[in-house]
Amino acid sequence: MSSPSSVQPRVIAVFNGPNLNLLGVREPEKYGLRTLAEVEQACRDAAAPFGASIDFRQTNHEGVLIDWIQEVRETVSGLVLNPAALTHYSVALMDVVATVPVKVVVVHLTNIHRREPFRATDFPAKVAHGVVAGLGLGSYTAAVRYLAEG
Ligand code: DQA
Repeated sequence: MSSPSSVQPRVIAVFNGPNLNLLGVREPEKYGLRTLAEVEQACRDAAAPFGASIDFRQTNHEGVLIDWIQEVRETVSGLVLNPAALTHYSVALMDVVATVPVKVVVVHLTNIHRREPFRATDFPAKVAHGVVAGLGLGSYTAAVRYLAEG
C-alpha cells in the first residue's frame, strides 16, 4: 500500500497553438474578450476541486507544440489541446496525439463547424478521445473537469 507521501499529484496538460496568446484582442467578436491568462486561471480553478494541477502552455510554433506533447505524453493524466490553426492541416500534430497513452480532448473556443468550410477539418480530433467546441472558455473547463474526474 502506498503512503500518502508517495501519491503523485495528477497533472493535466493544457497546450495552446498559434495566436492564442492574443486572446482578448484578437477578433474579440469570435474569440471573446477573455485573455489567455484568464483561460489559464479558469483551468486551474476547474482542476483544483479534483486535486489536479495544470501544466498550461502556449506556442506559435508547430514543432515546439509537438516537442511538448512528446515531453509530457508519459507523465500527464490527460491532455487538453487547442491546436488553433494547426487543427486544419497538421498531420504531424495528429501523429503525435496518436502516441499519447492518456485521454486527449481537443478544444476550440469557437464552433469550427459553423465557420469557413476549411475549419471543419480537424486532424488531431481524428485520433483524440473527445472534442469540445463552441463553448468559449467553457470548452476548456468542461474538458479539464472531464479529465480531472477520470
Ligand atoms: C480555434 C479555431 C481555429 O480555426 C483558429 O485557427 C484558432 C482558434 C478556436 O479555438 O476556436 O486559432 O482553434
